[in-house]
Amino acid sequence: MKEFQWSRIKYGDRVVPQIGAKNVIIQNVNNGKVVKITKEAFDTIDAMIHAGWSVEEVLNQCETGKDKEYLLENLAYLAENEVVRDINDFSEYQEMPIRIDWDITNRCNLKCKHCCVSADFQNHDLEQEALLEVAEKIVSLNPVVIVISGGEPLVRKDFREIITTIKKKYQGKLFLMTNAVLIDGEMARFIAENFSSVSVSLDGVDEETCSTIRGKGVYAKTIAGIRQLQEAGMTQISASMVITKTTYKYKYRFIDMCREMHIEPFLRSLSLVGRAEVKMQDMIPAEQEEIECMPIPELEKNEMEKEPEKEGAKKSGKVPTFSCGAAFRQFQIDYCGNIYPCQSLMEKELLLGNVLEIEDLNDYIRNRSFVRTKGYKTLEQYFPYNFSECRGCNKQIFCWNCIEPIYREKTKREDCSMANCALDRFWE
Ligand SMILES: C[S@@+](CC[C@H](N)C(=O)[O-])C[C@H]1O[C@@H](n2cnc3c(N)ncnc32)[C@H](O)[C@@H]1O
Ligand code: SF4
Ligand code: SF4
Repeated sequence: MKEFQWSRIKYGDRVVPQIGAKNVIIQNVNNGKVVKITKEAFDTIDAMIHAGWSVEEVLNQCETGKDKEYLLENLAYLAENEVVRDINDFSEYQEMPIRIDWDITNRCNLKCKHCCVSADFQNHDLEQEALLEVAEKIVSLNPVVIVISGGEPLVRKDFREIITTIKKKYQGKLFLMTNAVLIDGEMARFIAENFSSVSVSLDGVDEETCSTIRGKGVYAKTIAGIRQLQEAGMTQISASMVITKTTYKYKYRFIDMCREMHIEPFLRSLSLVGRAEVKMQDMIPAEQEEIECMPIPELEKNEMEKEPEKEGAKKSGKVPTFSCGAAFRQFQIDYCGNIYPCQSLMEKELLLGNVLEIEDLNDYIRNRSFVRTKGYKTLEQYFPYNFSECRGCNKQIFCWNCIEPIYREKTKREDCSMANCALDRFWE
């Protein structure tokens, strides 16, 4: 059994207990781990934390050796999953693996109908000097993953300088999101040397299907770009397709095509933001169509789409739970240096600061200074455990996987009572 030296303990920062009649299921949202203990043990430990009693004080109150052992066992279990910590342990965010998604440009060589960032040919980008400053500051945070995206990252003439600046001091994983149209042999070699993985957007299975979203002649150029990457020795390549009313019909053709090309297929849900808000309103698949496109387990292997630490959640949690990392394990930085909670939440009212105005980004993020911004205060109302519509419900962490639908809909689920009933099984 694990030894306890702590005098006093506290809960981890985002620890959410869901209280049933006999048991309590507790999630550490920050690391994705879920534990289940008896209500009796929870009540004792919860009272101890709230009263500020030390472990020793509570052990001294135990009537039998068995009671002591029971309490220590439960504490060890909670500590192992970082549900409780020593009261003086402030390392939670210092050690947290962080993923940064960085749009280095908002320009693009294409003008896709569904583009969530409304990228086009106009130039609103930062000058190179400012962009390199953003790069240096991102590296100072030491993220486990940096995803380079846009707009189309390859339209920046200084793309190589930016990547070389990052690579000079950065040991983590660098991912690229691209439409692949501008990849020639030389660029393919540069990418293969510097990136761990590349996600290419295809959105179709042939010229006809791809062109309805991405434009004429794009399909062949994208496939040629993928071939160049493969010739350059890049093995971690995925291709994505956004699921719409039309594309869901050829989901299996898309998967087969990717396998034949030895690349990973990835299906994305369509978000009605950016250009899609205007042009794709009638393209959202019906619920049944979406169900047919539910993730296929193998597709989850795609490393690019995983959040750091989510693997932990998958291993320990037999149940899908709220493990949204927005503004905790993941941040989105746009082409101006603006920081947002994640790529699906790039809204003005959720702005968490601008990299160019922050002297020490590592301190700002890891010591969570941004929680004082208006943007964070707005965001936090929509975490399921704060959300007013769901207050008092003990299914919050099972009901919601992500903050985005709560933020967008601002209401409880349409099937709330059905979900509530179905989720009772977690206490069985
Ligand atoms: C914005 S693009 C930027 C990188 C690059 N230009 C590309 O197309 O891959 C990043 C990814 O977002 C996807 N995307 C764009 N608009 C979207 C939307 N409305 N909903 C879901 N995904 C979208 C694209 O298909 C692409 O896979
Ligand atoms: S989805 Fe990508 S390729 Fe298409 S317009 Fe947007 S940034 Fe460009
Ligand atoms: S939508 Fe309903 S079941 Fe789900 S967390 Fe909210 S109140 Fe509970």
